[in-house]
Amino acid sequence: MPKVFVPREADAAETRVAATPETVKRLVAAGFEVSLASGAGERASFVDAAYASQGAQIVRDDAVVAHLTEADVVLSVGLPSESNCARLKRGALLIAFASHHGPLAQLRALNDAGVTVVAMELVPRISRAQSMDALSSQASIAGYKAVLIAAAELDKYFPLLMTAAGTIQPARVVIMGAGVAGLQAIATAKRLGAVVEVSDVRPAVKEQVASLGGRFIEVPLEAGEGGEDARGYAKEVSAEFLKRQQAIVRERVVAADVVITTALVPGKPAPKLITAEMVKAMRPGSVIVDLAVVQGGNCELSEPGRSVKHGVVIVAPENVPATVPLDASQLYARNVLALLLHYQKHGLGQPDLNEEIIASATLAVGGEVRHAASAARLSPETAATPASAEASPGVKTPSGKVST
Ligand code: NAI
Repeated sequence: MPKVFVPREADAAETRVAATPETVKRLVAAGFEVSLASGAGERASFVDAAYASQGAQIVRDDAVVAHLTEADVVLSVGLPSESNCARLKRGALLIAFASHHGPLAQLRALNDAGVTVVAMELVPRISRAQSMDALSSQASIAGYKAVLIAAAELDKYFPLLMTAAGTIQPARVVIMGAGVAGLQAIATAKRLGAVVEVSDVRPAVKEQVASLGGRFIEVPLEAGEGGEDARGYAKEVSAEFLKRQQAIVRERVVAADVVITTALVPGKPAPKLITAEMVKAMRPGSVIVDLAVVQGGNCELSEPGRSVKHGVVIVAPENVPATVPLDASQLYARNVLALLLHYQKHGLGQPDLNEEIIASATLAVGGEVRHAASAARLSPETAATPASAEASPGVKTPSGKVST
């Protein structure tokens, strides 16, 4: 029976967990023996007893090392600590957000140990992989929570209110980028009663924005400009386009109470859409929430965390899904389960690298780094044929944002 182990997250700021009692039950039914480090789900409100009742063994601190070294499969949100990565056995399968952006030492330890590293952010965005798409499940949470963060920071109501003391005008919200996070932000801001305007470079999103009740801010595209690639991701736009976009969007941003930015281009720094000059022209007390901060931010004045510039509150949170740990974990754990069952179907020990999802998501196998950008960061000698490089749109961090 293959052994699955879920350690506690190495990053003290990570509140999510890669398995829930529900997914444990399904793993046990699928023939896995499941164990979890005691307290692994605590910060997401899943207590040890709930896991145990679904068939998981709860592992105390002194037995964690033994479980790590014996595990055939390790499930995690971020990468385990460097020492724990080095403890995994050759051929073990680690499923996690394995971004090449930060944890280089862990990635090297995993590769030296010959672990098969499966990166959630490299799962292809194709229909049959939708149940495994953690970028979407986590980005949607980020979009929702960004609106709540803005509402909590804002000095006024979101909805139109007609009261005995007179009328309160609704908040004006501008959302930059209508991908997964942006669309959820539109829906959430509309539910709270705001007036919502939206900018994106992919004309394809216009209808989606309208169907959610948002108003699309038109920026005329010249021939061959903007749009999306074959995978549905935004193409990088020219400096001239960005200038034109800024000129048109400026008026809306300056009139806004809230600006939420989610604009990304895979593998590139986040486009700078909100200039320092625009922030200066915004009304004091207005709020910017910049979800693209891990990729450098969409606002020139964003700094990780919360700051106030020219009276404007700028919130640039680095891991928003971790602030909604219960549901973020439920969705992430189901994504992980679906991916693990897919690997189980295609050979756990020796995954079929010709299968499309496995070919894309397997970052490293048997000491060979298959993902070109990760290989380049580790060392030129470990770089193998970058089979997954073409399939990958870039690597995203656990928060669901692309990093270069
Ligand atoms: P993302 O996180 O890479 O980008 C966010 C948004 O920023 C995108 O809508 C992009 O067009 C926009 N953007 C880029 N540059 C901009 C600029 N200068 N100004 C304004 N907006 C800008 O995108 P995400 O959320 O990961 O998804 C992108 C697309 O991927 C989806 O709309 C969809 O087409 C596709 N997708 C497909 C899935 C599937 O088939 N399983 C699942 C999820 C997404």
